[in-house]
Amino acid sequence: MKLKKGTVIWLFGLSGAGKTTLAEALNEKLVQEGFLTKRLDGDVLRKGLNSDLGFEESDRKENIRRVAEVAKLFSEMGVITICSFITPKETLRSLVKDIIGSDKVIDVFVDCSLEECIKRDVKGLYKKALNKEILNFTGIDAVFETPVHHSLTVNTENQTIEKSVLSIELFLNGTTVLETK
Ligand code: ADX
Repeated sequence: MKLKKGTVIWLFGLSGAGKTTLAEALNEKLVQEGFLTKRLDGDVLRKGLNSDLGFEESDRKENIRRVAEVAKLFSEMGVITICSFITPKETLRSLVKDIIGSDKVIDVFVDCSLEECIKRDVKGLYKKALNKEILNFTGIDAVFETPVHHSLTVNTENQTIEKSVLSIELFLNGTTVLETK
């Protein structure tokens, strides 16, 4: 895979869209190819560095700001950093690029419809959100803005994880990819 040292691959999309699974698969591929990598994941960081934060708009912003600052530190060390966070708003996606440097960031929209995420409901959180047991849930009663200014979209609804990894790889290698099923 053609990848500049210190590149930050920022995967964003709805909860349950497959960001973590894709990040793991991509990470494995990069490690096999000999890259030095680090993965930063929403569910993991929210148990540690960001355990004081919730899901209010201001907390989500602080979550993303801190993670972007951490990713920047890894990037400066030359580490390929793979981040998987919902990053629900365009302003947050811009913030990431402002902090890290837009030339270093490949932001990838992990696209899966809300209906499919609700159907999968791997963590059982959508059910709780629909029953109002959890408030401010992205896609239910908190906004997820469809992206416009991003590097690449991968569709995890109709496409296997392997194909999504390949799409990212082809993009990085400079080949334009059309969505495939
Ligand atoms: S972000 O919006 O601030 O980017 P982040 O990616 O860190 O979110 O965390 C999202 C994860 O937190 C989800 O995958 C889910 O497991 C969990 N979660 C718990 N409550 C919420 C909520 N209200 N909205 C979205 N995700 C939630």
